[in-house]
Amino acid sequence: MKLLVTGGAGFIGSNYVRHVLTAHPDYQVINFDKLTYAGNLGNLKDVESSPNYTFVRGDICDRNAFEGLEFDAVVNFAAESHVDRSILDASPFLRTNVMGTHNLLEIVRRRGCALLHVSTDEVYGSTAEGFFNEDSPLQPNSPYAASKASSDLLVRAYVETYKVRAMTTRCSNNYGPYQFPEKLVPLVIINALNGRPVPVYGDGMNVRDWIYVEDHCKAVDMVLHNGKAGEVYNIGSRNERPNIEVIKLLLRKVAQRTGRNEDDLLNLITFVKDRAGHDRRYAIDPVKMERQLGWGPDMSFDQGILKTIDWYISNRDWWQGITSGEYMKYYDTQYGERLKK
Ligand code: NAD
Ligand code: TYD
Repeated sequence: MKLLVTGGAGFIGSNYVRHVLTAHPDYQVINFDKLTYAGNLGNLKDVESSPNYTFVRGDICDRNAFEGLEFDAVVNFAAESHVDRSILDASPFLRTNVMGTHNLLEIVRRRGCALLHVSTDEVYGSTAEGFFNEDSPLQPNSPYAASKASSDLLVRAYVETYKVRAMTTRCSNNYGPYQFPEKLVPLVIINALNGRPVPVYGDGMNVRDWIYVEDHCKAVDMVLHNGKAGEVYNIGSRNERPNIEVIKLLLRKVAQRTGRNEDDLLNLITFVKDRAGHDRRYAIDPVKMERQLGWGPDMSFDQGILKTIDWYISNRDWWQGITSGEYMKYYDTQYGERLKK
């Protein structure tokens, strides 16, 4: 099989490329990525010389960028992915997430190849109780979630109208190695290591379901190989936690791993102004993946968090390269005022 992985230089995409090269040594993988602020070829240094791996720099919105590339299936991770950035400026989200997905749908329609579209539980919106299944209404609340919901609906329309062989996965919050420092888990670890305030939005009681990135990658691979064309699959870990619990766990474990004083790290917690339109709780029902594809997560939260902390401790060069550059402009915009109060 020849796989085109879009967004393969990002957090989940790079973990997925590595997973495929290990799990399917006879596959050819083309990593197609624009290398935005979130794309980093350093995420794949260990596999870049593999004869089964090729990198192509390109934009999923560009109609001509795929000419000359041969592939049987596309796995689409390429996206603008951060809610806070979508609140600052939604335009890049509409361009890449909506128009880019449309362009990919046109390409797979013309070529007759398969598409696995990677989406998010955020398209269902927030719920105080119960769980969303694949047929729940889409009620996105952030510009990011709205752009992903739009892309999901385009996939649905292409399946119905043109019989495109496409599937959609909707996963909960990922954490693990190579996650860009703007997201909650790496932000807490890095700020703890740097002795900086750890910003907690609102009352810290917003709930997310946390999944280790490799478990998500395995699920995507199962859907690619055994999923049914036209179907949607929720991927969740049955691991719901309020943010403040996750943050305290991270700080305690960083203290253990580095020998720092636990109270000093817990004192870094700083409650700040809430995110606009902040979804209270994401909750999906992963029973379809479990029953139809026999999938379930392998990693416990405690183990996954330790592996992640150890990775960030051992890979300071990776994140120091990011946190010393352009990223700090974003950080200052997001937290400069909030952390002064
Ligand atoms: P990320 O921001 O780390 O990576 C996105 C990648 O896409 C980057 O390498 C970037 O360079 C690339 N990209 C952006 N625009 C592009 C374009 N126009 N053309 C080609 N490449 C482009 O994101 P991530 O966290 O790895 O998320 C990957 C996918 O998984 C996204 O579609 C996201 O919506 C979805 N998802 C993420 C999570 C999560 O917790 N991170 C959860 C569920 C679903
Ligand atoms: P995030 O990692 O941005 O993922 P998402 O918004 O897609 O769920 O945030 C996870 C949760 O953590 C979310 O409820 C917002 C909250 N959060 C903070 O409290 N402080 C922070 O500095 C960040 C980045 C997020």
